[in-house]
Amino acid sequence: MLNYNQAFNTQLVKLKEDGRYREFVPLSRMMGDFPHALWHCNEDQQKEVIVWCTNDYLNMSHNKQVVRAFQEAAQYYGVGSGGTRNIAGTSYPHLLLEKEMADLHKKDASLTFSSGYAANEGALSALSNAFKDMTIFSDAKNHASMIQGIREGKGKYQIFKHNDMDHLETLIQDLPLTQPKLIAVTSVYPMLGDFAKLEDLCDLAEKYNALLYVDEVHAMGMYGPEGDGLTAQLNLQDKVHIIQGNFAKGYGAIGGYVAGSASVIDYIRSFASSFIFTTSIPPATTQAALESVQYLRKSSVEREKLWQNVALLKDALRHYNVPFVKNDSHIVAVIIGGASYCKQFCDRLLIEYGIYLQPINYPTVPLGQEMVRITITPEHTLEMISGLAQALNELLNENTKLEAA
Ligand SMILES: Cc1ncc(COP(=O)(O)O)c(C=O)c1O
Repeated sequence: MLNYNQAFNTQLVKLKEDGRYREFVPLSRMMGDFPHALWHCNEDQQKEVIVWCTNDYLNMSHNKQVVRAFQEAAQYYGVGSGGTRNIAGTSYPHLLLEKEMADLHKKDASLTFSSGYAANEGALSALSNAFKDMTIFSDAKNHASMIQGIREGKGKYQIFKHNDMDHLETLIQDLPLTQPKLIAVTSVYPMLGDFAKLEDLCDLAEKYNALLYVDEVHAMGMYGPEGDGLTAQLNLQDKVHIIQGNFAKGYGAIGGYVAGSASVIDYIRSFASSFIFTTSIPPATTQAALESVQYLRKSSVEREKLWQNVALLKDALRHYNVPFVKNDSHIVAVIIGGASYCKQFCDRLLIEYGIYLQPINYPTVPLGQEMVRITITPEHTLEMISGLAQALNELLNENTKLEAA
């Protein structure tokens, strides 16, 4: 008999030695108290901490209107959706949400999935299979879900250097204009917070007769006049053929979607495995996501406060000499370097300062680029911001002293 457990443990020991073993930080993020949360350090002990790394960028998961919509829909529809979309799992809120997302992106149609991951995986694998000789050109920094979908499809793919339009053009120009192609990118890259060169990508897609697919997961709610993403902010919605997004970050709920022409959405609906063979998002969550989208179309208060806080955070980091990656987005990356050191750094922040930042390790970032990813929200105060900047300064300086000694 093979010793399966020993084999698993060998891999886990290696992961621990590399400092890349994932340890969760269990939290209670209570309504009305965010960004404070209770950290359940062990079974019978809790400590109050400040959360600095949530993707609930606008704290919409606690928005009173959204929570009310969720509660009322749960009273009305119950908990589960009851099935896959095709077999008893399409509820009325699913139709409303899909209509809303199509309208938001100025597209004919949209389709919701159980997560953003499932949306990318299902849509890209189906699109890869749509034509016998399809080639997908994918940015090197695309998310795991896009890579997974592209690999799963039967078409060819080529990876172009991150945001390198010359490299993309060198690759794409080799194919005949009549051959089907798709360019897949991310509007706001989640780790370093840089933007895709969307104008150039639209031009290249047009020039080489390619479909353009943009993941807007980290832009929805925060960018664009109605929270309608970076493509809307740049007025490029009609040049981007397929927009993918989710409800789990800026919108504070769960689920993913794609929006595009009536034909492409119907095609994805009919062929994407991760759409067809899974239970749909529960109606109450769907209703909450809809409320959140509609709320952020009308209200700019949260966006304005977020952007004010982003500027204050960047100023404070500069003031306290904390180096961070330059970008124009809401994501603030501080490279720490070294998985074990990054882990210790975050442990100390949590235990000594009550600051929760999660270490970001390989393979999410390249080895040696281990980092903390700070995501400020409208709820963080000036006092919290300077507390964070001071704590980072103290810990980073301690390390510099150690290195110098
Ligand atoms: C760029 C990007 N796309 C897609 C996803 C997947 O979205 P979801 O968390 O809804 O599955 C993520 C998730 O973290 C992401 O960062």
